[in-house]
Amino acid sequence: MCGIVGYIGTRKASPILIDGLLKLEYRGYDSAGISTIENGYISNMKDKGRVKNLYEIPGIDDLTGTIGIAHTRWATHGKPAKENSHPHMDNSNLFSVVHNGIIENYQELKEFLIGNGYHFISQTDTEIIPNLIHYYYTKNAQNENRLLHAIHLACKDLKGSYAIEVLCMDEPNTMIVARKDSPLVIGVGENENYISSDIPAILSYTKSFYLLNDGDLAKLSKDSVSFYDMDLTPIKKEVKNIEWDVSACEKDGYEDFMLKEIYEQPKSVRETIGSRLKKNEKVNFDDIGFTKETLSNFNMIYMVACGTAMHAGLAVKPMLEKLCHIPVTVDIASEFRYREPLIDEHTLCIYISQSGETADTIAALKLSKAKGATTLAISNVIGSSITREADYTIYTHAGPEIAVASTKAYTSQITLLTLLTLYFAEVLESVSADTIDNIKSELLLLPEKISEALKNVEKVKNFAHKVYTEKDIFFLGRGTDYTVAMEASLKLKEISYIHSEAYASGELKHGPIALIENGITVVGILTDPNLVEKSVSNLQEVITRGAKTLVVTNQEINKENYDEVIEIPSTHPLISPIISIIPLQLFSYYISKEKGLDVDKPRNLAKSVTVE
Ligand code: AGP
Repeated sequence: MCGIVGYIGTRKASPILIDGLLKLEYRGYDSAGISTIENGYISNMKDKGRVKNLYEIPGIDDLTGTIGIAHTRWATHGKPAKENSHPHMDNSNLFSVVHNGIIENYQELKEFLIGNGYHFISQTDTEIIPNLIHYYYTKNAQNENRLLHAIHLACKDLKGSYAIEVLCMDEPNTMIVARKDSPLVIGVGENENYISSDIPAILSYTKSFYLLNDGDLAKLSKDSVSFYDMDLTPIKKEVKNIEWDVSACEKDGYEDFMLKEIYEQPKSVRETIGSRLKKNEKVNFDDIGFTKETLSNFNMIYMVACGTAMHAGLAVKPMLEKLCHIPVTVDIASEFRYREPLIDEHTLCIYISQSGETADTIAALKLSKAKGATTLAISNVIGSSITREADYTIYTHAGPEIAVASTKAYTSQITLLTLLTLYFAEVLESVSADTIDNIKSELLLLPEKISEALKNVEKVKNFAHKVYTEKDIFFLGRGTDYTVAMEASLKLKEISYIHSEAYASGELKHGPIALIENGITVVGILTDPNLVEKSVSNLQEVITRGAKTLVVTNQEINKENYDEVIEIPSTHPLISPIISIIPLQLFSYYISKEKGLDVDKPRNLAKSVTVE
């Protein structure tokens, strides 16, 4: 987690670095810092707290250096404190380093360095990096490419994940960066180059990017970038042009990114559908081009992901099984990767990740590849790590998602997985054309129906106002409604810090009903006509025990039984999560606002979980 930015060019680096950090704050926000080279010396300014605190550091406005590195931190090793903030310098103040990732063998390296006379002032794993670079730098004094070699040797010693930027006082016109299992992109300008953990942070400066692969190093000057692989062999890279609009990364008049992203869903779902689905045509996935023979070879599908992305997989599992007749297991990436799953060349493993950088999801993908499975990545970020590991990749095209709480990525993931399911079913000829056409027509109506669901905002806001002081909130549903309950509950926990649980309504009497007492808030989701009566009975059981109820439904029910009913447009039950989650995203949002919390940057969380 953590965000890193770098600049080398002809302009003052510090404002560009701070601007980039502000845009990366969603990746971590407990301390920040910048290093620039000022008249041959490295200046290092940092402090705990938010990026904006950097403006308070005396002298920061006087920096004139045109080369610099910067970091916003999500603490892993060592509490948020000035001494643990990045950049970190070596003992002789020759090198300055920022790092995103975790060095797993840092203790061992620290002991080695201490044995060689080095000392440490922070509790971080990162501080070993500048010192290790110094160690190799002084050992290889004769080497003509001394700096690059020293960094390469240091990287070879590191176990774990890293994206690093290095400044060296001896080479004030050079910056070196390296990455392994943590994201890093290089933005190309005219007589200037930028570094960032992600594209949106520097999109206002350039739309041309180099993407680094695991093990790559790059040496930058203001007008050149040279790339090397993990053996230090020079490699060539192509510049990628990114189509995202700068305004997509701004709040655009909304109070928070999360609210903006909730309201963007009619558009983002339309973009996800894109040209894959047109009236009276077969679903188009020519980019992956699976034949009937390939699909028939799969006797099992795994969908593996974390958090919200995993919930998207859960929402689609029933449809995939029903339409394609292939058993589907949805798994949490951090569990999957350590439990020796039974997969082989007859397994299709689908990895879902908005960022494409989630460490557990990437590790799970690597594991299934090694076992011979076919891997398919679903990501929102072009060129992200997961897309470079997978055999096949399809993009959600939801546009940049900045708020830590995922909203539009979820609805786009379900939409894309639905299209994929229909494509599989068409290729396999596993269900009638009518069944497929029914869902296709409903998919094309989704943008309009999401807009309709968004109109419930006042009712949702009022209910949020009534319950925002609660300590516990329960979400209930059956079938796909249960999967929405899980996602709604996660959203609420994340941004409101209210304890919440999601239960399959039928499970209630097997234990959780003991928690239901007078005045407790229960949210019911009722969209499946085949299950509505049973769900109504389950809600009755909690009402009898004094619960306050909010119901999200598109079914005919007796509204008087409930404290608030949010009516949403009806659709095919298998894709109803894409609509029923909308008012519940708003519900979490307004509870968080009522509590005066930072919606976009909830405590302890980061957008991209690039560590285990
Ligand atoms: C969603 O609101 C969360 N912030 C989180 O659960 C997220 O979905 C999860 O970390 C997976 O991220 P990814 O899609 O980028 O892999």
